[in-house]
Amino acid sequence: NQLVLTKQEEALLEAAEAYVKQELSGEGTGHDYWHIYRVVQTAEKIAIAEGANLYICKLAAYLHDIADEKLNPSKEAGISKVDTWLKEHHVSDTDRSHVLEIIGNMSYNGGHNPPMRTLEGKVVQDADRLDAIGAISVARAFVYAGSKGHLIYDPEVKPREEMTQEQYRTGKNTAINHFYEKLLKLKDLMNTKHGIELAEKRHQFMEQYLDQFFKEWEGHV
Ligand code: ADP
Ligand code: NI
Repeated sequence: NQLVLTKQEEALLEAAEAYVKQELSGEGTGHDYWHIYRVVQTAEKIAIAEGANLYICKLAAYLHDIADEKLNPSKEAGISKVDTWLKEHHVSDTDRSHVLEIIGNMSYNGGHNPPMRTLEGKVVQDADRLDAIGAISVARAFVYAGSKGHLIYDPEVKPREEMTQEQYRTGKNTAINHFYEKLLKLKDLMNTKHGIELAEKRHQFMEQYLDQFFKEWEGHV
């Protein structure tokens, strides 16, 4: 049964948790340890609902942002860091390459990346995306914007595809604009049935939030 973990697997997941705690605890742009915690919780829920391999899902969820481009000199350098960690911890070659494949294909990339090959990849990607939809996503978007010195909202800042190159290059993004560029699109990129259900609820909350935001902006409520 892929839902029952061996003692050895449990121990490895604990080591992975300790490792990310040490690496990401103070990260200030939305990838702190508690993002990882939430993604692991959600990945576990989805893995159980979808009958995926729980050990692989949790391991990839723990390690998924260690290799993030923003936190490493390059994507390759990030992947090789995770590779080294997995080798040092005697993870089997099959599991190691599976986890690295998942981590290497996680990113949003404007929704242009090819679909995840394995069920476990689909589960972990859904869990990561769900942390960018809903109440938590609102908090993360504003923390990220604050860390970059962006405004809450500016009616003149439009999604990238509606701006000229020049406007985009010289302008600054805003937290609210990020909802239109990315967060409201995530619901339609979900992979698993259970992920889609969770995304729909969280998406509705974001729409409600934005609706109220714009009413307050004009003093209507
Ligand atoms: P992850 O790798 O965990 O999927 P990202 O690196 O894309 O997430 O971003 C981390 C968090 O910051 C996410 O919640 C994302 O929505 C938010 N974020 C990313 N870019 C922006 C932006 N330009 N404005 C506001 N929030 C952003
Ligand atoms: Ni993440």
